[in-house]
Amino acid sequence: MTDSQTELSPEQQVAAAREAFEQEFERFARFIDDSSSLAGLDLDQALAEQRALADLRTRHLGKKSALAATKKLIGRVAAADRAAFGQVVQATEAALVKSLDDADQNLKQHIETQRVARESIDVTMPGRRPRSGHRHPITLLRERVEDIFVALGYAIEDDREIETDFYNFDALNIPEYHPARASQDTFYTTEGFALRTQTSTVQIHAMQRRGVPVRMIAPGRVFRRDTPDPTHNPMFFQVEGLCVDRGITMAHLKGTVAEFLRRMFGADTVTRFRPSYFPFTEPSAEFDFSCFKCKGSGCRICKNSGWIELGGSGMVHPNVLRAVGVDPQVYSGFAFGLGIDRMCALMYELDDIRLLFENDVRFLEQFR
Ligand code: DAH
Repeated sequence: MTDSQTELSPEQQVAAAREAFEQEFERFARFIDDSSSLAGLDLDQALAEQRALADLRTRHLGKKSALAATKKLIGRVAAADRAAFGQVVQATEAALVKSLDDADQNLKQHIETQRVARESIDVTMPGRRPRSGHRHPITLLRERVEDIFVALGYAIEDDREIETDFYNFDALNIPEYHPARASQDTFYTTEGFALRTQTSTVQIHAMQRRGVPVRMIAPGRVFRRDTPDPTHNPMFFQVEGLCVDRGITMAHLKGTVAEFLRRMFGADTVTRFRPSYFPFTEPSAEFDFSCFKCKGSGCRICKNSGWIELGGSGMVHPNVLRAVGVDPQVYSGFAFGLGIDRMCALMYELDDIRLLFENDVRFLEQFR
């Protein structure tokens, strides 16, 4: 046999096994001599070192290790030297075990400390206060409006924001050539759909869906091609109202709007109707209410007039009833519409309506 191992004497083989171990063990030796070298290891690194150390133990002390092979040589050593050689092997093995155990012991301790540190909590540390969310001021106001009308026996309708010309204009008695279309320019898609410019569209949907009699309000988002400024935004909110039944008159309209405004702004609120024009009502009226701030004596909010303009209304035009197959000889109704954002800006005395849509939490947090 020409294997270099077999050419070494048994003592040399033990020495070689020890040498090979020492070389590999060198990087773990620092864990014994210098405890500060452990300080740089985080938990995961220390666990990896521990596994590497166990691996080293198997390779140098295991059944297939070079040292184990030297044990088999004991029997072949001359009888006179046998005891001495046996001691060398044992002493070597003991030295390796001690080195491995010492390094392992220190690693274990470090791992334990790291685990405790990772799992411990500082009970004196101030907690993180949960920031509770809240509703947007427009939502708050919309819910107040809804509550009032539900109490008056109205249903709440929620409908689509993308519409056809039929619902946004034609069925509301605004034919194609009508100038009202120009004042409510909106965003069109190439497929003939448009973002609704008014919640009045829901009058049509509601009557088609529910038939008559009907009493409903429809709060929702509407869109117009407006340049944003302190009092305009291309997206805003309206509430539509509709009541159709046999024998509905303008007195019902006035009574309903006045009662709504009293519940909204206080029992002493006075309502005023001014003749106006809307294509889908005849006759039509705009309504104002006595300023909630100065009670009519004149202030900044009502621009010294004592009155605040709020919405449009009127008796449903016979053409609108006909558009949904309702006989205007039998049924009549009233409708009204108002802007929630405008009401919101008034009530909270906002100088700029756009604040409502910038979603700056420092602003929004003030409304709860
Ligand atoms: N849709 C109207 C607008 O956007 C508001 C309105 C006026 C609604 C009169 C009505 C109404 O139902 O009767 O300006």
